Amino acid sequence: MPNWNRSSLRARTTSATAAVAALVCIGFSVLFLMFAGSKETDDAQARATAGWARVLPISRHLPAVLPAGNDGPIQVLDTHNRVVAATPGLVGKPPMAIFPPTPSDTAVRTQRTLCPPAGLKGCKTIVSIKIYTHPEGVWLIDVAIPVIPWYGSSTDLFLAIGVSVLITTMMAVGVFRAVGKTLAPVDAIRTELAEITVTGLDRRVPVPGNQAEVKLLAETANATLDRLEGAYQQLRRFTSDASHDLRSPITAMRAQLEEARMYPQDTDWAKMTEAVLAGVERLQAIVTDLLTLARLDARAPFTRDPTDLGRLVGSELDRRTYRVEIVKDLRQNVFIEGDRLRITRLLVNLLDNAERHATSQITVSVRADGPTASLEVIDDGAGFAAEHREKVFERFTRLDASRSRDAGGTGLGLAIAREIAEAHQGTLTIQDSERGARFVLRLPRTPSLSRPLTHVADTRS
Ligand SMILES: Nc1ncnc2c1ncn2[C@@H]1O[C@H](COP(=O)(O)OP(=O)(O)OP(=O)(O)O)[C@@H](O)[C@H]1O
Ligand SMILES: [Mg+2]
Repeated sequence: MPNWNRSSLRARTTSATAAVAALVCIGFSVLFLMFAGSKETDDAQARATAGWARVLPISRHLPAVLPAGNDGPIQVLDTHNRVVAATPGLVGKPPMAIFPPTPSDTAVRTQRTLCPPAGLKGCKTIVSIKIYTHPEGVWLIDVAIPVIPWYGSSTDLFLAIGVSVLITTMMAVGVFRAVGKTLAPVDAIRTELAEITVTGLDRRVPVPGNQAEVKLLAETANATLDRLEGAYQQLRRFTSDASHDLRSPITAMRAQLEEARMYPQDTDWAKMTEAVLAGVERLQAIVTDLLTLARLDARAPFTRDPTDLGRLVGSELDRRTYRVEIVKDLRQNVFIEGDRLRITRLLVNLLDNAERHATSQITVSVRADGPTASLEVIDDGAGFAAEHREKVFERFTRLDASRSRDAGGTGLGLAIAREIAEAHQGTLTIQDSERGARFVLRLPRTPSLSRPLTHVADTRS
């Protein structure tokens, strides 16, 4: 359905074109009519001259009734303004016009427009031309010619109006159709977008073959739909994984509580309370991680303090004890701007994982790498298969081996760590390593605080 709204591009373009076409047509029409008016006036004056030329040769022997001609009604007046000869319609009538002589009246030809002149109907211009050759004095030949308006004649006027209306209408219809044809793909895109709902996120808008701009619009809309579909699928997976992970401990706790209620005498209450508390702790951990992710997703603003990454990592490592050997290679004065708590959270997630999977050693290093600060956490565990290197950053991803190894993990740690890295305009990736897993965090370095580097290397268990 075409959009008839007055603010629509189609309506506005059509009205603008019609207005411009009308103005141009009016301009040309005025020029044409002025030209036509001037030509008609010249023709009328030529008729007056022709009348004079017809009468002049017979002026000495004038008949009372002049023969009718194509030039118009004629009267010949003597020196006393008496009609001495006239064309048939004016015989016996008074002079059509009297031109009072003035002292400075030397003009051979003079004219007046009268509405009507004596003896005639309607408006006429009376052209009076002097005859000097008559023996009785200066006689006048008066010829009545039609009054010519500035536009020439009604025929010229109607012709100009008709052609202008025709051209303006043709231009408006042409532009209306052309814009409609141009906008048809946009309309098709709009219709398709309007019909896409959550249940039809796999639908895509039609991409026109030509019209580069509209093609680009359609491709951008489709790319946006791709992203939306991806985000929606991810959200669905996340919701179902989250409900599954929340339901498992709840189901387990409920079974334990029901069993205790049914067989209170046979229940080891201390053990049962311990088990239920572990379930509650797991629920609490999941909910806390979900909240953290929700805040990171909402891009909630956070503080950005200049932080020495080496020092921050060093103090976190010193705070805890590990079941494996820790090798430190921490350059100091590698400054970043960020939220210390969140960076620490990222580091703790990487260290927890590394400790869980390392066989005997974890290497942690911090160094400056051009405009970036990099942190590496390397363990000597089983590492990752290549196809899992990106997957483990998805929410609720726990690889099978670790599910059996440690059921306590929520599968949200690495997703949170990557969100924190990206919120600081950085990256967190898994890189190749000879043995085990090698996590690499890269953050923009704060150049203003860069100073000569000092080096802390240490090995501790
Ligand atoms: N250093 C590592 N070596 C081998 N596998 C790892 C390592 N770190 C993480 N993984 C794998 O990636 C999965 C996802 O890790 P992630 O930190 O996101 O979740 P989690 O450790 O299971 O739970 P959470 O950290 O939320 O307590 C882990 O379940 C584990 O299978
Ligand atoms: Mg983890």
